[in-house]
Amino acid sequence: MSKVFITCALPYANGPTHLGHLRSTYIPADVYARYNRMRGHEVLFVCATDEHGTPIAVQAEKEGKTPLEIASRYHKMIKDDLESCNISLDNFGRTTDPKHYQTAQNVFLKLLKKGYIYQKDIKQPFCIECNRFLPDRYVEGVCPYCQGEARGDQCEICGRHLDPIQLQEQHCLICGSVPEIRESSHYYFRLSQFQDDLKTWIDGNDKLPANVKNYALQWIKEGLKDWILTRDMEWGIPVPLDEAKGKVIYVWLDALLEYITSAAQWADRNHRNWKEYWDDAAIHFIGKDIIYHHSIFWPALLMACGCKLPYTIIAGEYLSLEGRKMSTSKNWVIWTSDFLKDFESDILRYYLLVNAPLTRDTDFSWDDFQRRINDELADVLGNFLHRTFTFTGRFFKGKIPEPGQLDEYDEKILDLLKGTPDTVATHIENFKFRDGLVEIIRLAKTGNKYFNDKEPWKTVKTEPEKAATCLYICNQISKTLAVLLNPFLPVNSRKILETICLNISEVVWEEAAEMIPVGHEISKPKPLFTKIEDSIIENKKKKLYKNLGELDDMKKIISIEDFAKLEFRVGKVVGAEKVEGSDSLLKLMVDIKEKKLQVVAGLGGKYAPEKILNKKVIVLANLKPAKLFGIKSEGMILATEDSLNILGAEGAAIGEKIK
Ligand code: 2FM
Ligand code: ZN
Repeated sequence: MSKVFITCALPYANGPTHLGHLRSTYIPADVYARYNRMRGHEVLFVCATDEHGTPIAVQAEKEGKTPLEIASRYHKMIKDDLESCNISLDNFGRTTDPKHYQTAQNVFLKLLKKGYIYQKDIKQPFCIECNRFLPDRYVEGVCPYCQGEARGDQCEICGRHLDPIQLQEQHCLICGSVPEIRESSHYYFRLSQFQDDLKTWIDGNDKLPANVKNYALQWIKEGLKDWILTRDMEWGIPVPLDEAKGKVIYVWLDALLEYITSAAQWADRNHRNWKEYWDDAAIHFIGKDIIYHHSIFWPALLMACGCKLPYTIIAGEYLSLEGRKMSTSKNWVIWTSDFLKDFESDILRYYLLVNAPLTRDTDFSWDDFQRRINDELADVLGNFLHRTFTFTGRFFKGKIPEPGQLDEYDEKILDLLKGTPDTVATHIENFKFRDGLVEIIRLAKTGNKYFNDKEPWKTVKTEPEKAATCLYICNQISKTLAVLLNPFLPVNSRKILETICLNISEVVWEEAAEMIPVGHEISKPKPLFTKIEDSIIENKKKKLYKNLGELDDMKKIISIEDFAKLEFRVGKVVGAEKVEGSDSLLKLMVDIKEKKLQVVAGLGGKYAPEKILNKKVIVLANLKPAKLFGIKSEGMILATEDSLNILGAEGAAIGEKIK
C-alpha cells in the first residue's frame, strides 16, 4: 500500500474525551498514521464529531439548550483534547456540516434507487406524556438476549444492536412512563441480503483481528435482520423524501458516512482525490463496543454502494480506572484536559500504549502509571540518553568520537541497533503497538547496561579509545531510539533529535539505524522524563476518589493482614462495677480462659453492673492497654453503638477465638 486511509471512531459531541477514548482509538490510530508517514506512505487520517442522534438530543434536553449548541461546545473541546495529545488528523469534521447532509442524503437516495432500501410500517414505542416516539436512547429497558440493561438501540452488556421494540420492561428516559406501541412507517436496509457475502468476506479475511472476526461471525451465525435506517425525531439529517416528513436518517448511517465527508473536505481543501486513499487501504480504528456497526453494517453498505471494503478494522478493548469500570456519570473518569494540566502528552501516550496490548482490556492505575514512567521512561530511557549526551559533552567536546577497534560486545550492540527498526516495524504493521514500544525500551535498557559494563568514566583516563567506542555506539543508539520513538512519543523524539542536532524536517524510518558521522557535534541535553513525585500521585488519587465520594470509605478499608491481627475472643464477665465519677463507664473483669482482662467499657448507661455479670461477650483481646479515667483497660467489648447491645456469644465456649 502506498496510500492509506485511516479513520478514528467519531466521538459523540456530548462530552469531552477521556483516557478510555485515547487508549482504545485515538492514540493507536495516531501511532499508525505517523509510522506510515515515516515510511513514505501517503496518509489520509480523518475523524469528526458525531453530532446527531439521541445522545446529543438527550443532553440538550437535560440542559435546556439546542442540540447544535451542545454539539458545538463539545466539538471544540474534543478538538482541543485531540490536538493536545498530538493526534495528527488531516481533517476533523462535524456531522452537522452541510456538506455531510449532502453525502448522507445522496447515499440514502442511491440505496433506495438500487432497491436496497424499502419502506415498512412498524410498531414503535410512543410516550404519551412526552407526545412523541421514543427512538434509541429515549427508551430504556432490558435486553431480550442477555437480560442486561439496554438503551433503545444497543445492549450495554452484550453489545447487540437492538430494535427499540425488542426491549423488555420499557420506560421513557425523559419522564419514566411506560410507552405505548404505535405504528409508524420506516425505511429499512436489506442487511439480511448480505448475510452470505459478509460471511465470505469475514471468514476468509486474514487481516481482520480475532476480536472483530469472532464477534462478527457470531452475529452472522445468529442471522442478520434488516436494518432500520430512519427515526421519528427532529434532530438529524432529514430523509430526503417528501413522504418522510419528520423523519431523520439513523445516526449510525449518518456517522459512518462522515468518514467519507471528512476525507472529502480534506480533498477539497488540498485539491486531492480521497478515493485513491480509500481504494488502496482503509483502516478503521474503533472501540470494541462498535464492532457490530463496522464489521456488519458498514461493509454491507459499502457492498450495496459498490465500494471497496476496508482493509481492516482495529478494535481497542476497554480501559478501566483503578480497577473499576469507567463511568462519566459517576465522574469515575480521567478527562484528557485534566490529565494534561499536570503531565505532558507523551507520557500519557507512553503509558496507554505500553500498559497492555490493544486487544486486551486493561486498567489505568495512578500507582502503576507512576511506576512505569519513573522506572521505564526516567530511569531507563531518560537516564541512558542523559548520561550519553553529558559524557559526550564533557569528554569529547560534544562531538561524536571516532570509535576504536570494535570487540564482540560492541558488535553485538550494533547488531541489535540495526535489527530493532525492523522488529518494531513488524509489530506496528501488525497493530501490536505495545510490543513495538517494549522493543524500543529494551534497546535503551541494553544501552544502559552496555554503558555500565564498559565503564567509560574509568576507561576515558586509562584506555580513551575504548571510552570513545562506547560513546560512539551510545550516541548511535540514542539516534535510533529518537527515530523509532517518533510515532509513539512525537514531542520527545523531536527533543532528542534536536539534542543530537539532527533537525530533520521529516523523520524517516529507514534512516533509524544510519550512523551519525564521527565529528558531528551535539548540543547540551535538555531534561527528559522527570520522575513523578509520590505527593503528586497521592493528590491525584485523593481527587479521583473524592469524585466517587469514597475517599473516606477508602481510608476506612483495612487489608486482610490488618484484619488478621485482631484477636476476638469469647469471654465471660466475671467482675463488674461502676467507675467512680462516671455514669457511662463500667470496670469489668473478663475471663478469656487463660487470663482475665480488665476492660473499661462505656456500657454503664445501659447496663447495671449486676445485669452484665456472668454474660458472655465478644472481646477484642489484643488491644494495646490504655488508661480510661485513670484505670487500665486491656480490651474492648463488642457492642452496637446506638442501643449498646452487647454482641453476645451465649452458646460459645469461654476463650474461643472468633474467625
Ligand atoms: O459509539 C460512538 O461513540 C459513535 N459516535 C461512533 C461513531 S463511529 C462511526 F460510525 F463514525
Ligand atoms: Zn416520556
